[in-house]
Amino acid sequence: VKVFITGSLGTLGSAVAAALSDRGHDTVGVDIRPPAEVTCDIRELSGPAGAAVFAGADAVVHLASLHGRDHMSRFGPDAFWDVNVEGTRAVYAAAAAAGVRRVVLAGSMAVYGPIPVKPLTSWRVVREQDPVTAYDSYSMTKLVCERLAQYHASRDGISTTVLRFGHFTPADVDHYGFRLLFGGVDVRDAATAVRAALCAPSGGDGDGSGAVVRALNIHALSPFTPRDLPALGADPVAALRGLRPAVLADLERSGIEAEPLLWGRALWPAEGALAALDWRPVWDFDRYAAARLAGDLSDYAGLAGPRWGVD
Ligand SMILES: NC(=O)c1ccc[n+]([C@@H]2O[C@H](COP(=O)([O-])OP(=O)(O)OC[C@H]3O[C@@H](n4cnc5c(N)ncnc54)[C@H](O)[C@@H]3O)[C@@H](O)[C@H]2O)c1
Repeated sequence: VKVFITGSLGTLGSAVAAALSDRGHDTVGVDIRPPAEVTCDIRELSGPAGAAVFAGADAVVHLASLHGRDHMSRFGPDAFWDVNVEGTRAVYAAAAAAGVRRVVLAGSMAVYGPIPVKPLTSWRVVREQDPVTAYDSYSMTKLVCERLAQYHASRDGISTTVLRFGHFTPADVDHYGFRLLFGGVDVRDAATAVRAALCAPSGGDGDGSGAVVRALNIHALSPFTPRDLPALGADPVAALRGLRPAVLADLERSGIEAEPLLWGRALWPAEGALAALDWRPVWDFDRYAAARLAGDLSDYAGLAGPRWGVD
């Protein structure tokens, strides 16, 4: 299978290219920066040139985007619209012209509204069927991209899996480890979710009729369940201590304070993706804590990676 990946040099793009190559897929990276295999601005893909770029593609993984607070303060709303919406429109137009029937589109947890943060005490559980909202230039453009996917399903017979990812941006390892409890995901698990979405039945017919768009939340597996919401609302550190007393005590003894690291007051079960895809995330809080306590963080070297457009 020949897969084109936009944003191939970014945090997720590099992980997806590696995950697909591991399984023998043929990948072509498309990025605005060299050394991508195709160096181009996705906004220039509309028109005949775009179809030529995607010639021979069986699927497109569309990841290139401006995202997050860092990009927002740096680029502004016009750039967000331009890269995310015009760029996605051009990617779909090129995919349609090249006869592509399958796209995996990077969505975001941001479409469910602002991440609930402290001092909020009413924790919530977020699932795919929950209401979505556009509250800033990022969430708004991500929602428009999902609508564009629907448009191209009905117009061009392209089936899209939207993966609404949790947070995987490179970060301090302790921030990373604790965010896996409440809305984070390891980029390697995000990448295997992309691979699984490419391999899963698209839901549409091979000829493009009945093309569908489905959205799946992609998060790390957390030991907390909806039954823990009252305890989390009362005192999240105590709730964690209740589930992982020895681990938390050991982390505290090694100087790690849990409270400032408890990012996001919500649970994000990945059960929709677990049911729909042949995928199971393997990087979680327990694994981070074991490595942290053993003093071997070699598996987490990628967290020190650069952040495109920021560093
Ligand atoms: N980082 C997160 O935690 C997170 C969370 C949820 C969703 N997402 C989504 O996942 C996707 C990938 O995120 P990431 O963190 O890997 O991004 P990133 O910023 O690391 O990489 C983006 C890549 O896109 C390329 N790019 C930017 N504008 C381009 C253009 N006009 N034409 C061609 N290439 C362009 C950049 O050169 C870069 O290599 C994005 O769509 C993002 O919205 C990210």
